[in-house]
This record gives sequence, C-alpha cells and structure tokens, in this order.
Amino acid sequence: MDTAQRRDWREGTRYSPAGIRGRLSRLEVMVPVTLRPLQSGDLDQLYAWECDPDSIRQAAFTRPDPEDRSAFDAHYARIRADRDVLLCAVLADDVLAGVVGSFTIDHERDVTYWVDPEQRGRGIATAALSALLELDMTRPIFARVAAHNTASAAVLAQSGFARVRTVRSFAHGVGQEIDEHVFRLDAAATSTR
Ligand SMILES: CC(C)(COP(=O)(O)OP(=O)(O)OC[C@H]1O[C@@H](n2cnc3c(N)ncnc32)[C@H](O)[C@@H]1OP(=O)(O)O)[C@@H](O)C(=O)NCCC(=O)NCCS
Repeated sequence: MDTAQRRDWREGTRYSPAGIRGRLSRLEVMVPVTLRPLQSGDLDQLYAWECDPDSIRQAAFTRPDPEDRSAFDAHYARIRADRDVLLCAVLADDVLAGVVGSFTIDHERDVTYWVDPEQRGRGIATAALSALLELDMTRPIFARVAAHNTASAAVLAQSGFARVRTVRSFAHGVGQEIDEHVFRLDAAATSTR
C-alpha cells in the first residue's frame, strides 16, 4: 500500500477480508472481522482497554503512564494525522473489538494490535492481522513482542512471521528491562500462507 492508497483507506470504506477466510481454514469457524479507519468515537473504548492492568503487563512496552489521558490523546492525535500510519478499528460482529495498525520506525515497517480484553481468544487478533497484511503489502514487515507475550507470538506465527532477533530494553508496563523478540514476515512467507 503506497501513501496515496493509505489516504484513500483513511477516507474510504470498510475492508472485509473474505479471501482470508477462504485461505485460513482456522478462521472459517471464528468470528469474521472488518477493518475501518479508527474514529474519534473509538478513543474512549481504546483508552479503557489500554488501561487494563493485565493487558499492560502483557504488552509491557507501553507509554510510561497508560492512565495519562492527555498523553493518550496527544499520541493518537499525532499518529492519526500521520499519513504513514495505517490505523484500523477492528469490528467483530459489527462491534468494536480492537485496533490493528502499521507504522514505520527506524526504516522498518512494524505492525501492532490490541484486542478488547472481553473478546480475546476468539481469533480476532489473528484475523485482524491477516486483514491488515492484505492492506499493507510492505515486506519485510516486522513486529516487536515482549518475550513473555505468548499470545501475541502465536498471533504472529499464524500469519507466517518468524522470530529473527531479541533485544533487551526497558518496558514501562512491567517497570524493568526485559527481552523483546523481533519477528519478521517476508514476501515468501506471505505467498505460501
Ligand atoms: C495479544 C492479543 C492481541 C491476542 O488477541 P486475541 O484476539 O485473543 O488473539 P487470538 O484469539 O487471535 O489468539 C491468538 C493465539 O493466542 C493464543 N492465546 C490467546 N490468549 C492466550 C493467553 N492468555 N496465553 C497464551 N496464549 C494465548 C491463542 O490460543 C491463539 O493461539 P493458537 O492460534 O496457536 O491457538 C491480546 O491478548 C491483546 O490485545 N493483548 C494486549 C495487547 C498486546 O499484547 N498487544 C500485542 C503487543 S506486541
């Protein structure tokens, strides 16, 4: 997806990845997801999810104070205005169930996602990431996951990401330095999915 396409996506319609369900049999029995651009009306819900203590420990690499609403609003204002950032609300059964996105950092394209704590374990993250990977065709594309975040690692593995390196850095969500696994999806992995 180039910059012009990202602009169209921001202004455009919903994306329902029917083709993905055809390819991944696991998702045929799971809730179908639809992606649309994140809207201002989603932010209160997203803020609540990002304040969930278990989620903060799980994700670990969070903002210094997830409960700081001003910092949250400033962060989302900045990334929603950034044409390079693809930021999607995830709808499951037409209900807001999470967010998924991609962005560029240090010349690498990265993906990120967060699912409503009440709606986890239904395949939503896996389906949402698969859909995003059809919208953002940048390859290789990367993801960074706290070493203890096995659910997130499983999501990435389902989409063909492979672990390529481990770095150690401070994680505000757990208040200490921890290992962070870097995953990469190459074009070849995508095409053989
Ligand atoms: C990680 C997260 C997005 C997963 O969302 P989800 O919708 O529950 O994921 P899925 O239902 O698609 O499950 C994906 C895999 O995780 C596994 N899983 C789900 N919950 C798990 C848990 N608590 N512990 C271990 N594995 C778990 C599932 O079994 C599945 O694995 P499988 O495909 O091998 O069976 C969600 O837990 C979350 O939002 N966490 C907080 C934010 C975060 O960590 N984001 C990622 C930052 S890198």
